[in-house]
Amino acid sequence: MLEVTFENHNRTLKVEPGANLREAAIANKLGIYAHIFKILNCRGRGLCASCRVEIVSGKVAERNEVESKNLARALKKNPNLRLGCQITVEDNLVVRTHV
Ligand code: FES
Repeated sequence: MLEVTFENHNRTLKVEPGANLREAAIANKLGIYAHIFKILNCRGRGLCASCRVEIVSGKVAERNEVESKNLARALKKNPNLRLGCQITVEDNLVVRTHV
């Protein structure tokens, strides 16, 4: 099992290697979405960018094409942003949500 710490929620989840970050958060009732995006989101298709997280520490795979395209503008302000729905957990991570 790997640990994913959601820094701004003060919670650490035990996650199976290969788990999807967004799905792990939802399964553990951890709010990955802010405001109205709790309802209005693309359900993990990588299209709405409302599941943005900042990877504070830990290794994740390179951004895929969907992430690069939909985060292009936001990455200029914060190059550590990722889409939670596109991240496969393969290492212990510390992440920050609602960024
Ligand atoms: S849930 Fe829409 S981009 Fe991740």
